[in-house]
Amino acid sequence: MKSDIGIIGLAVMGENLALNMESKGFAVSVFNRSTEKVDAFIKGRAKGKRFYGAHSIQDFVNSLSSPKKVFLMIKAGAAVDQTIDTLIPLLNEGDLIIDGGNSNFKDTIRRTEYVESKGLYYIGTGVSGGEEGALKGPSIMPGGSREAFEIVKPILQGISAKVNGEPCCDYVGQNGAGHFVKMVHNGIEYGDMQLICESYDILRCVLSLDADELAKTYASYNRSKLESYLIEITSHIFEQREDGEPLVEKILDCAGQKGTGKWTVMSALDEGTALTLIGEAVFARCLSGMVDERKSAAQRYATIETCKGTYDKDGFIADMGNALYAAKIISYAQGYALMRSAATTYNWDLNYGKIALMWRGGCIIRSAFLGKIKEAYERDPNLENLLMDEFFYNSMMQCQNSLRNIVKAAIDNGIAVPAFAAALSYFDGYRAARTPANLLQAQRDYFGAHTYERTDRPRGEFHHTNWTGEGGSTTSDAYNV
Ligand code: 6PG
Repeated sequence: MKSDIGIIGLAVMGENLALNMESKGFAVSVFNRSTEKVDAFIKGRAKGKRFYGAHSIQDFVNSLSSPKKVFLMIKAGAAVDQTIDTLIPLLNEGDLIIDGGNSNFKDTIRRTEYVESKGLYYIGTGVSGGEEGALKGPSIMPGGSREAFEIVKPILQGISAKVNGEPCCDYVGQNGAGHFVKMVHNGIEYGDMQLICESYDILRCVLSLDADELAKTYASYNRSKLESYLIEITSHIFEQREDGEPLVEKILDCAGQKGTGKWTVMSALDEGTALTLIGEAVFARCLSGMVDERKSAAQRYATIETCKGTYDKDGFIADMGNALYAAKIISYAQGYALMRSAATTYNWDLNYGKIALMWRGGCIIRSAFLGKIKEAYERDPNLENLLMDEFFYNSMMQCQNSLRNIVKAAIDNGIAVPAFAAALSYFDGYRAARTPANLLQAQRDYFGAHTYERTDRPRGEFHHTNWTGEGGSTTSDAYNV
């Protein structure tokens, strides 16, 4: 009896995905470079279940039914290329390799071309939801050819999270599209987390809320329009105590990062789209890492006085909820704008409503809010920016004042709010019919003859002024990022 699918890599995600697949009725082969892990798994959590533990990659491949489906859950990077090269001579035409790690989408574009040139299929898929999601139902974002997706669709949709019976897994697009969308998911995750962290910082400093009050506040947010996994776990985190003290206060304020947030921002720079909130979230992690330098600076600037105003507690907590919501809308508007731009660059036919549905359940950023995004794209599949949708327009009109109040309070109290402030600045910049870029163009033309367009002339006509009377009429080539 051959297995329906095989998983290579029995770390946390691989092991839990394997158990999830088996629980949905699929027979699963497993292989790991260090085979003790295979034995431990087969004797442990896999005991009595439909698993085959292979001790060599050849044995592993032989144990699979055709077309053979090999799911890699290994560390992103060189290990994926090595494993692909080991697998290619062992597989037959029409077999499929799936990479479920957090691979860079550009690697996935390259690997898809390479593997397909050998007559095999390739899928690069985002898998989100951590350990629990992998076991009970993750969000799955597969990219590759549509034929490749059809081969593995019943398994991927079978094991994914479901919202109102609909799987949080669907075909995303060609080659690297799945990993790109997962990367943007992670960037948005960075933004959501940073906003929650800034709200915590303000609530504890301005209102002096203790851990119990914070737990209650985030629990109440979770019963509102902010309902989401990250808000929910935040309230649980404040409840956790060690020796009677809130554990969170004992954790060093030095953030880690594995790189997907940084990649998202790098892609935005490549695309020339403003992804300011996620950018600030990445940089806030970098700043948090300068632990000793920050301590010295805190001492050096200790005399700066910040005027702590008095605030109505309930009103402030309500404002904070609305500010979080407004900033979240702006962050997702930026993330979706990045996906729109990349879809053109890489020729992907992305379905934004479906992406919202894929993120609606199972993944780290899952929230009720994503249902609203799905509805917005149902109203208009070509929506230019989420801020232009009717629902989000109304939400912004209700919440933008709260966002201003919170940013003002943070500034008055000397609290860093890079993500909240970036959200507000993007919003005010996006809705500005006139920005100061006219002056910037004049400066560029002044010092470098870079030319400018005029408000009283047609677009695309470029002019140059001899500002000092000493320059010539030669202009520098017009080029854009
Ligand atoms: C997920 C997560 C996951 C990611 C971690 C850690 O969707 O399940 O996004 O893929 O690896 O969240 O990311 P950082 O170490 O960069 O915070």
